[in-house]
Amino acid sequence: MTDYLNKYCMRSATCGQLRKENVGEEVTLDGWVWHNRDHGGLIFVDLRDREGYTQCIFDPDCVSAEEFGIAEHLGREYVIQVTGTVRARGESAVNPNMPTGEIEVLASSLKVLNTSVTPPFVIEDGIETDETTRMKWRYMDLRRPEMFANLKLRHVVAQAMRTALNKRGFLEVETPILANSTPEGARDYIVPSRPNMGKFYALPQSPQQFKQMLMCGGIERYYQIARCFRDEDLRADRQPEFTQVDVEMSFVSGEDVMDMMEDVMAEVLEAAGVTHEFPLQRMQWKEAMERFGCDRPDVRFGMELVDLTEIVRGCGFGVFSKAVEAGGVVKCINAKGAGDWSRGDIEKLAEVAAANGAKGMAWIAYTADGKEKSPIIKFLGDEVHAAIKEAAGVEAGDLLLFAADKFDVASAVLAALRLHMADLLGIEREGHALLWVVNFPMFKYDEDEDKYAAEHHPFTMIPEEDWDKIETAPLECGSYSYDLVMDGFEAGGGTIRIHTAEMQRRVLRRCGLTDEQIDEKFGHLIRALELGAPPHGGIALGLDRLVMLLAKKQSIRDVIAFPKTSSASDPMTEAPSTVTAKQLKEVGLRLM
Ligand code: AMO
Ligand code: AMP
Repeated sequence: MTDYLNKYCMRSATCGQLRKENVGEEVTLDGWVWHNRDHGGLIFVDLRDREGYTQCIFDPDCVSAEEFGIAEHLGREYVIQVTGTVRARGESAVNPNMPTGEIEVLASSLKVLNTSVTPPFVIEDGIETDETTRMKWRYMDLRRPEMFANLKLRHVVAQAMRTALNKRGFLEVETPILANSTPEGARDYIVPSRPNMGKFYALPQSPQQFKQMLMCGGIERYYQIARCFRDEDLRADRQPEFTQVDVEMSFVSGEDVMDMMEDVMAEVLEAAGVTHEFPLQRMQWKEAMERFGCDRPDVRFGMELVDLTEIVRGCGFGVFSKAVEAGGVVKCINAKGAGDWSRGDIEKLAEVAAANGAKGMAWIAYTADGKEKSPIIKFLGDEVHAAIKEAAGVEAGDLLLFAADKFDVASAVLAALRLHMADLLGIEREGHALLWVVNFPMFKYDEDEDKYAAEHHPFTMIPEEDWDKIETAPLECGSYSYDLVMDGFEAGGGTIRIHTAEMQRRVLRRCGLTDEQIDEKFGHLIRALELGAPPHGGIALGLDRLVMLLAKKQSIRDVIAFPKTSSASDPMTEAPSTVTAKQLKEVGLRLM
């Protein structure tokens, strides 16, 4: 790598390159002044570039008086060129923590290539500068070694994806950014069309329909490192524009797509220096929901949900028995090691439960010295309490946290408490855990809109045995779907697609569209399916999330060169911004 880096440029070595073997060589380094100190008539400058840093020494006997004067006044982040001789450091000056720590460069000349005003923050790893400031001066932030490492890892992962897919016969094809809406559950970003006044493009939420068209076009194996745009509430793992490794294949089953993707992932992880066992576990959606309360379980630790519904059915504690009578469930988690927490600390957990929809959070604490405390034991009765203890495997020092509600709510509450408790108890989540969660329900009921909607997207194939339930019992329909889950995040998701026009219409009708609306919005897809569409399916991996997890970062913003804030703006360029009245007029818009 470094050989290439020293071609076609002014330097002869990078700042991360020189070792003991280079002692005696004359070198030229280019870089930024990181630290400089005056040590009794000698100036020490740590010169930094993206490859590392090298200590350069200015001795008044070795450089001109003018150059020495300049060296004395170099500011942080000045860009300089140093020519000098590599020499070994004295034994006491060797720094084993830095790759170039055995050498230093004794300067014979110094050129200032550019000056710098005082930087807005120090260029160091682990700074606590607030993120908006880092984003406003993103190019300064990118000079920090950890940010460079993140972008480099992203590059390595993207290239490994390309190599692995190329090897398997996939073609990289670009699809339009100016397009019509493709529903993936978010709002569209829309763009007015000047030549078609009053009409709008929608930026793609994903290339979903185009990749299906490519299969209809006989491409058979497609991929794209595709930018996607979604106007949705932003979180640490969500950006308004993000990148998918988007994949589609013809003549495949869901098993084929998962097998292929596992082979690709094995190569990608290896390139990223991560070991993981393959084949990956394939967990039914239902099992994930029952055991972990969510469809993207972090399986690196236990604390699984315990179903107590049958145990508490008809018991004396109204909160539990009424929830069961109403068709709900009662479940708990056992947070081992929290049994001696104070009442106050335990009750604080109810805030996490409430934020996830709980109406309350019953609990029982078992102290290390064999006592029990709880607001609910007195209502349960000995027999029910004993059965709960057995089901939850209670030992001294445990804390049980309960949720009594509809399945969805109880699951969400306990899934959130499980992660929260793992954080508070410092449960180790070492390494990475990948698995597939498969066979999501095809439909969900959207209470706000009072209609059924697709759980993944409406192009997903339903297993034949469920076809007769599409109209009569939609919530019982399964689907050929698979999410790639990593460390508790949805790193990717895909499905086998509907490839007949008749079934596509049927599913879209079930999602509340009239035939007219279907023709208007999805006419192109229906026509393509009528013209000999092959069976096909695919997947899209969230590149940002994958790299975030591999880099062990908390936010995808750390692995995106120029991310946006939680209000979808860019503090550096100040996008989005206003446009002129003339621009608005040209596209036929007036602001309200
Ligand atoms: P889905 O909507 O599940 O599927 O998206 C695929 C993957 O993209 C990532 N992702 C995001 N990453 C960052 N910010 C966001 N706002 C964001 N939204 C999604 C996630 C997710 O798993 N067309 C289908 C795929 C298919 O069926 O082939 C799709 O887009 O990691
Ligand atoms: P209440 O009868 O509302 O005073 O509740 C008694 C106990 O049950 C309190 O500890 C509540 O926090 C708890 N509780 C109430 N509703 C629920 C629920 N839906 N799930 C779990 N615990 C609950």
